[in-house]
Amino acid sequence: MISVMTTLERAEAAERAMSEELDRVVVKSVLYTSGEKDPTKPVVRPPDQGKLYMMGPDPRLPHMPDRPTLFDFFKYRFAPVNHMLQSARLAQKNGASEKIILACLLHDIAIAGFIRCDHGYWAAQLLEPYVDEEVSWAIRYHQALRFFADESVGYRYPDMYVKLFGPDYKPEPYIERAYREAREHKWYMSSRLICVNDLYSFDPNVQVRLEEFTDIVGRNFRQPKEGLGFDGSPAAHIWRTIIAPTKYL
Ligand SMILES: [Fe+2]
Ligand SMILES: [Fe+2]
Repeated sequence: MISVMTTLERAEAAERAMSEELDRVVVKSVLYTSGEKDPTKPVVRPPDQGKLYMMGPDPRLPHMPDRPTLFDFFKYRFAPVNHMLQSARLAQKNGASEKIILACLLHDIAIAGFIRCDHGYWAAQLLEPYVDEEVSWAIRYHQALRFFADESVGYRYPDMYVKLFGPDYKPEPYIERAYREAREHKWYMSSRLICVNDLYSFDPNVQVRLEEFTDIVGRNFRQPKEGLGFDGSPAAHIWRTIIAPTKYL
């Protein structure tokens, strides 16, 4: 316990030192620390030393263009996306349609750039204004379908999940419900194909370039001319939050 406290204190001191170097005060959103800290407890803030609060892009992050494209998010905000690139390439190799290749390329963007929990739903919401409904539908439901085998297409419950979640893990009722809904839906197979091409045993030596998908994205993703985040779509605020995640309000 003592050493844990010390580690936490050390991390906090390092963080304080880092934020002191910024000329703006950064206050982390509750989600950043929820768990490590009890969100219901009051936050003790260090004195702001007369500094203003962060109300724009965080200088610690790469600069984003004023009218960011989908690829700008891949380059400047998302964690390494080799997993999705390899998925998309596999789908392409398997002869999938452009819609499915795009769905594979984007299926885990919530994990790469936003929030892990319920990542299929978040990704679908981010993408809905810009892609064919079938693509966002498939991405939303891949979250549930991942947990259920479909022998007809050779999809087995991932060994990786046994390792990650234990042999007794059972998906929650809302996931099971979503699975049953999806099975009855005309786009079931589109979502299933994301799972089929969503392999975990990727070759770390194979590097796929994002630019390989420039044409497919160009034809299937409606890039807004104002830039993602500034186009007034129902998902624009989520893109803006990814651009400036430490903005005070
Ligand atoms: Fe996923
Ligand atoms: Fe994935």
